[in-house]
Amino acid sequence: MNDTVTITDNRTGKSYDFDILDGTRGPSVVNISSFYTDTGMFTYDNGYTSTASCNSSITFIDGAKGELRYRGIEIEELAEKKSYLEVCFLLLNDTLPTKEQTKEFDLELRHRSFLQEGLTNLFHAFPSGSHPMATLSAATAALSTFHFNHLDMSNESEYQTMARRIIAKMPTLAAFAYRYSIGACFIQPDISKSYTENFLYMMRAYPGGKMHMDMDGQRAIKEIEIKALDTIFTLHADHEQNASTTSVRNVASTGAHPYVAISAGVSALWGRAHGGANESVIKQLEMIGSVENVDAFIARAKDPDDEFRLMGFGHRVYKNFDPRAKVLKSLQVQLQDELNLDSNLMKIANRIEEIALNDEYFVSRKLYPNIDFYSGVILTALKIPTSMFTPIFVIGRTVGWITQWIEFKKGKGMKIARPRQLYLGK
Ligand code: CMC
Repeated sequence: MNDTVTITDNRTGKSYDFDILDGTRGPSVVNISSFYTDTGMFTYDNGYTSTASCNSSITFIDGAKGELRYRGIEIEELAEKKSYLEVCFLLLNDTLPTKEQTKEFDLELRHRSFLQEGLTNLFHAFPSGSHPMATLSAATAALSTFHFNHLDMSNESEYQTMARRIIAKMPTLAAFAYRYSIGACFIQPDISKSYTENFLYMMRAYPGGKMHMDMDGQRAIKEIEIKALDTIFTLHADHEQNASTTSVRNVASTGAHPYVAISAGVSALWGRAHGGANESVIKQLEMIGSVENVDAFIARAKDPDDEFRLMGFGHRVYKNFDPRAKVLKSLQVQLQDELNLDSNLMKIANRIEEIALNDEYFVSRKLYPNIDFYSGVILTALKIPTSMFTPIFVIGRTVGWITQWIEFKKGKGMKIARPRQLYLGK
């Protein structure tokens, strides 16, 4: 007999049993799929704080311990020892690649990084100065028009091709979205460059593909910059059923094209409570302006009558240090040393971190610095334009979205996402 939870309706005295399902890690769940049929009532869970919307074998988070694993492997190990492309392969295939597989995967992604001319033209339909996240969301949806007839849902290799294509093209789409936003010409991908270096190149190169060389003759794109960005991609690669991934799965549940589903993920990510926080962190640090002003803003963040929130603090799931933030904190220290950084923004960020980690308001609510706090600071140190912070999150997360899409499509008995409501109108 299954373990069960019994719920009693105290109005009628009637009791109902619901099965408890155990996962391989983390809390068990109560299967309430027959709740409405059995009781005539819906369950109500504002913001889904207690709801598991699916089963999944991709990513595991223990928010209390501050633990994150992709396919069973701890994020710290992946960030230290594996490249972003190896992590993509792991998420998609449930196993780390061999050297040969990494080479083959890398080569295929390089070949698929180009955009069709029609898609390139699409950018010109938007007003100059458009935010890259807006054009990126539109361009991702438009990608479905170029690959509409190539989907055989019963064919595993079709899934892989579709996944590899969008992972390969996302940096190009993002770089084009940025260059369009500043009125610069597009720079085509350079097939001789790695995934991460190519993205930096497409963003930074001058017309004709020339790069500005440092005066001392060093490489225009430094190894440490590539490594830092690659780590940022890895840390953002997947994060179980967050708002954007849930959006992707919801769209997937209607049977729409995968790239349209991913476009929904891009849009959901843009909000400042989610991926847009990295951009908001820097805007907020700039607004604070100097270390002397930090105390006043901390006071505002603690004031229940003030809507002001400290961007880059708090997380729905992590009630301990976000393990991704820990990795980024040490990366920040390393960059500070190696790039000789001592910026005003970093000083303000360090001061906020120091106060918040010791202040009763933040400690009692378990509000730790999250991934966006450090990624914003690091991306600024790497001289990435602020408007590209969330597109960089998109590039990293694309593999997670498409892997979750594939898992959804392959799952048995998957239903259209159709929640109900507590009606309070006339
Ligand atoms: N600054 C000040 N107070 C905060 C903050 C903050 N950043 N975050 C939460 N609180 C307070 C909040 O006012 C509430 O206090 P009280 O209990 O007195 O009413 C308490 O902490 C719980 O907050 P909540 O809004 O119920 O928590 P949530 O789990 O619904 O929200 C969050 C999580 C991430 C949306 C929220 O912490 C937040 O808005 N943080 C700032 C934005 C941010 O950094 N977002 C990035 C999240 S990580 C990356 C990602 O998911 O994309």
